[in-house]
Amino acid sequence: MPCFHHKTIMFFKWHVPEPKQYSMMSFNLLCVLSLLLLPCLATAQNNGTVRVGQYITAADNSQPWFSPSRDFAFGFHKLDNEDLFLPAIWYYKIPSKTIVWYASADNPAPRGSRLQLTADRGLVLDGPDGQELWKSGITMSAAAFGFLYDTGNFVVADANSEKLWQSFDDPVDTLLPSQIMERGGVVSSKRSETDFSQGRFQFRLLQDGNAVLNTINLPSGFAYDAYFWSNTFDQNRSNAGLQVVFNESGYLYVVRENNQRVFLTPGTIVSSKENYHRATLNFDGSFVLYTHPRNSNGNNGIWSVIRTMPDNICVNNDIRKGLGSGICGHNSICTLNSLRRPNCTCPKGFSLVDPDDPYGNCKPDFIQGCEEDEGKSEEDLYHIEELKSTDWPTSDFEQLTPSSREDCESSCLKDCLCSASVFRLDTCWKKKLPLSYGKMDPADNGTAFIKIRKGEGNGKKKRDIFVLVGSVLLGSSVFINLILVAASCLGLLIVNQKKLTRTHPPEGVSHMNLRCFTYKELVEATRGFKEELGRGAFGTVYKGFMDIAPNNLVAVKKLDRVFHDSEKEFKAEVNVIGQTHHKNLVRLLGFCDEGENRLIVYEFLSNGTLASFLFGDYKPNWELRTNIAMEIAKGLLYLHEECCTQIIHCDIKPQNILLDDNYNARISDFGLAKLLTLDQSHTSTAIRGTKGYVAPEWFRNTPVTVKVDVYSFGVLLLEIICLRRCVEKEASTIDKAILTDWAYDCCKEKRLGTLVEDDPDVMDDMNKLQRFVMVAIWCIQEDPSLRPTMSKVIEMLEGVVEVPFPPCPWPFNITS
Ligand SMILES: *[C@@H]1O[C@H](CO)[C@@H](O)[C@H](O)[C@H]1NC(C)=O
Repeated sequence: MPCFHHKTIMFFKWHVPEPKQYSMMSFNLLCVLSLLLLPCLATAQNNGTVRVGQYITAADNSQPWFSPSRDFAFGFHKLDNEDLFLPAIWYYKIPSKTIVWYASADNPAPRGSRLQLTADRGLVLDGPDGQELWKSGITMSAAAFGFLYDTGNFVVADANSEKLWQSFDDPVDTLLPSQIMERGGVVSSKRSETDFSQGRFQFRLLQDGNAVLNTINLPSGFAYDAYFWSNTFDQNRSNAGLQVVFNESGYLYVVRENNQRVFLTPGTIVSSKENYHRATLNFDGSFVLYTHPRNSNGNNGIWSVIRTMPDNICVNNDIRKGLGSGICGHNSICTLNSLRRPNCTCPKGFSLVDPDDPYGNCKPDFIQGCEEDEGKSEEDLYHIEELKSTDWPTSDFEQLTPSSREDCESSCLKDCLCSASVFRLDTCWKKKLPLSYGKMDPADNGTAFIKIRKGEGNGKKKRDIFVLVGSVLLGSSVFINLILVAASCLGLLIVNQKKLTRTHPPEGVSHMNLRCFTYKELVEATRGFKEELGRGAFGTVYKGFMDIAPNNLVAVKKLDRVFHDSEKEFKAEVNVIGQTHHKNLVRLLGFCDEGENRLIVYEFLSNGTLASFLFGDYKPNWELRTNIAMEIAKGLLYLHEECCTQIIHCDIKPQNILLDDNYNARISDFGLAKLLTLDQSHTSTAIRGTKGYVAPEWFRNTPVTVKVDVYSFGVLLLEIICLRRCVEKEASTIDKAILTDWAYDCCKEKRLGTLVEDDPDVMDDMNKLQRFVMVAIWCIQEDPSLRPTMSKVIEMLEGVVEVPFPPCPWPFNITS
């Protein structure tokens, strides 16, 4: 029985996790509170209706108004880390608080403020001293009542039930089913996840009928070029887009004047009887259609994504005026993560203007200028950092055609006006600051060269300290000077020592740096396990925010309860994982071990999994792919042969390889296989790993060794070479369906070009292609003893040793 259980877990990755304890707790808390607040509850049984004069006070547990079904609540939302509140409407029945409408974000309400329905001013938000902070305003006649519908719409109506105002006409960042946006309508993003003030992104239906996403200038509101558009404009105005409609079934589309519909929702979607739908313009500029089961037990507050618009937010093809910074700030670089959302990073030598706004502008950490650098050679002052597949398409001041790569690099280095250059094919563009619309796109074969002052980073700051000390010294008495000198020496000493301990973690003892977290800390870090990053065989991974990591982000893995019961063993295994240090492995930062709650905290890697990278919409280039393959091999070599305890991974596959900021491959989930509860006698039947990547000895009565990882690596290597999954049910012909079979056939028949669709980049590098394919086929030999070790694999991939032609991997099977 237990064996069967394991198998289920291994093969069905998408099993539903246990309901979260914390959400049950908060539910209980709510029940208790409801009892305490019985008098309030009586007025709260409003069944949607709000009478004139009725109000809610801004406080921690003030009772909201409910829609008749209680799908939605309208009340105060308390802002993080501040004693301020916003009037807001949110889904009431699902565990994570998802806000669909809010008001007065630029002028939040202090504790004690009142949200009241008035006859003459409609809905009004008054501060504790009675000053008006916000009002809905009404037109025509006096308000008689308000009503919160089960659609999430709050309507203010007069005595004849005529609508005077409704929240649907005043959307913020979210549209809901049955909501309509007319020409001139605007949806606006928040500033950040927790900052509700107006952000830099808009979704609008323009007067010409086009629905667009664009960035704006803050605070003026000036709109920059669109980065997404519905294409529903019409020069002759006879068939232009008229409305953006989110119909009751959850379909979002633009209706043209002739009633034609242009859908933003792809294909068919889940039923709105059982599911909520919403369309939210996120603070990072992505416009996302989400769905969530109405039954709160269904999904633990995790929203599934139906579509993210645009498909690739970093790659903008229609920069006309070129004003503004693009999706990220000026001098920043946009990369797409595995959730198809943007990540912004400052290039080396640059840092965030506002460290709390990772999506904002970057500033150089040095001064560059013709005057400043006069009389010195630029080559002595600067060096060039090369950034593959990176571009800032605007900001040009010169174009050199034809040019060579080397000339492009040196021409910028030597030019005191030049800050960066980009080379593609035979052309060089020289660029000036600020660099805008920065993007890194693996499909781009261009290269950027960015100029950085040598020895930079903190040189400027140090100089400041000395200037300060110097000027103070000049203007004070000898005694004070002596004290100052002593103090500043001490200060510098401490600064330096801090720097030393930061940059050089002592190697052997680093496992002692593993932090032990409480469950509560991790609930807080993940904001109640709000944002799911992925699910694997061992559990679900959530995004977390903690200052222990350089980018303040961590990945928290909640392990399923199939692990050792013994606390000692869990700690021992985690310590083994914690002692591994290699640049191609994901770093473990800490863990939590509280009864049933076993969690592991890893560093967060921004570029998602190798799976989404390989099998996404654009084809990563050959050079990057071969680098990634080498890096995975090196990570495995370390696990097998170089770290103190040999670790067999058991589940090598593209979902378990993550990519860091620079697209370096990092293996994750290593060491976890051993954590599974395993009765030794059942070893041969409890198959660990994932179908398609699993070595044949798992199914036989032969011992399991590191060679199982070599097998999986071989399959993965073929996927990296061919940019396709190991099993493709929809392959054009049956002999292509199984990648390993197809690759061997092509290799034997010397048709390697077919494997890469005759990609010219790869065909130019035929020797390497042949070497890589042959190594992969050696790795997938059915007989484990024929498979090379990882050190041999690396030698062969590097071309240090000759690769003999591999035998057929399946000598005992009859294959087609
Ligand atoms: C919403 O639009 C879809 C697609 O056209 C249609 O199938 C569905 O019936 C519409 N729902 C309603 C309630 O009109």
